[in-house]
Amino acid sequence: MKILVINGPNLNMLGIREPDIYGKQDFKTLEASIRKWASELGHDVTLFQSNHEGEIVDVIQAAYGVYDGIVINPAAYTHTSVAILDALKAVGIPTVEVHLSDINNRDEFRKFSYVSMVAKKTICGLGFDGYRKALEWFE
Ligand code: DQA
Repeated sequence: MKILVINGPNLNMLGIREPDIYGKQDFKTLEASIRKWASELGHDVTLFQSNHEGEIVDVIQAAYGVYDGIVINPAAYTHTSVAILDALKAVGIPTVEVHLSDINNRDEFRKFSYVSMVAKKTICGLGFDGYRKALEWFE
């Protein structure tokens, strides 16, 4: 399947950013792992990371008619972005939401996710492995 993997703001800082929460492995390692898992599962994967909400909306819109599935870690936009929720609703592409950390057991404000309102599945608290599980969902 053709899968678009979207990573939101500050995930490019993995390895440096709060390693106690997000781990010591860097973003390049995450991307390499995603590419490896996708190829093992026979998926054709495209990776996109942005720190900008509008760019994420643009990439979701451009996915219409092109991708069979979206894996998204919207990062902080999870908890704030009606625009990303609306873009996902607009394109109607099956979406799996991933979070490295367990957003249900951290700050109160992280418990609410706009993207969960449209996601077929939400995977959180499994670190990098969550992306593998998300790719497996599309088998
Ligand atoms: C995150 C959780 C969010 O609350 C946070 O803002 C992130 C990363 C995660 O992967 O655990 O940036 O999406």
